[in-house]
Amino acid sequence: MIKIAVMGYGTIGSGVVEVLETNRDSIAKRVGEEVEVKYVLDLRDFPGDPIEKKIVHDYKDITADEEVKIVVETMGGVEPAFTFVKAMLEAGKSVTTSNKALVAEKGAELLAVAKEKNVNFMFEASVGGGIPIIRSINECLTADKIEEITGILNGTTNYMLTRMANEGLEFADVLKDAQDKGYAEKDPTADVEGFDACRKIAILTSLVAGKQVDFEKIHTEGITKISAVDFKYAKAMGRSIKLLATSRQADGTYSALVAPHLLSPEHPLYSVNDVFNAVFVHGNVLGDAMFYGSGAGKLPTASAVVADVVEMAKHLDQNIPVEWSKEELPLADYKKNEK
Ligand code: HSE
Repeated sequence: MIKIAVMGYGTIGSGVVEVLETNRDSIAKRVGEEVEVKYVLDLRDFPGDPIEKKIVHDYKDITADEEVKIVVETMGGVEPAFTFVKAMLEAGKSVTTSNKALVAEKGAELLAVAKEKNVNFMFEASVGGGIPIIRSINECLTADKIEEITGILNGTTNYMLTRMANEGLEFADVLKDAQDKGYAEKDPTADVEGFDACRKIAILTSLVAGKQVDFEKIHTEGITKISAVDFKYAKAMGRSIKLLATSRQADGTYSALVAPHLLSPEHPLYSVNDVFNAVFVHGNVLGDAMFYGSGAGKLPTASAVVADVVEMAKHLDQNIPVEWSKEELPLADYKKNEK
């Protein structure tokens, strides 16, 4: 029996518990033994919830328990998540997180701690929700020099833009609905200003380049200035409006950008609608590839988190190397790498 802990019992954390329960047998078969949640760390108590007796309020209860081999972090934000995750890795536990803010800022540092301790730090759910894009870049597209990654990486804004396009609604009308559906971050600023997509493209670029991207240096525009009238013009031109996060490499020089784009029907991301995410990748020998799927929400994101749990359970005493050093990747002006 593999014992794990979940830090943060919000939408994703409770989804992780649900996925482990729903697919208990098939997960046990893949891992070779059962996976059981021993602790749930949260500030709240959840009386009446099946995990009520597993609740702890101090992360040191988890670091101190040698039986816990794997920890899931679904709290969000850089602190205190960083302190907790680092302490777990230093205590010899593997960690998976869905927290893009944490990974974008501290990914290289946490990977280095994991390597030193011969455990793993994984973050499949931090980009693209349930779409397996991190593993694809790290383990599958390794023969290529990746020349472009362009994605619809934020489900909330894609959902909002889709409804604005289809129903002629204004920005404010659709934001609350996206929040009610559990897509938006607690503070929707991160979604609508493009900061969430910025962190995600920073993570993908760091993985492709093997160096740390400073996400603050990525030019980032969100969708707050887009109104119903913009969609009227876009429609008249036969185009859709999408928030794209893009990263390009030419002759070893990288650039990145997050901004709304007008897309023609020939563009592979033109018809990616609702909460779906998609990532277009161009490799120098592969050519084009598209990854498409559920990019946000409780169960799709939990699916990616639990996939990491399975992977880490299969490599308990083995660090799976990830090339992402702390050295900063210089970013060129994105206009220079425009096609
Ligand atoms: N708020 C994020 C989104 C959640 O809408 O895509 C998934 O990272």
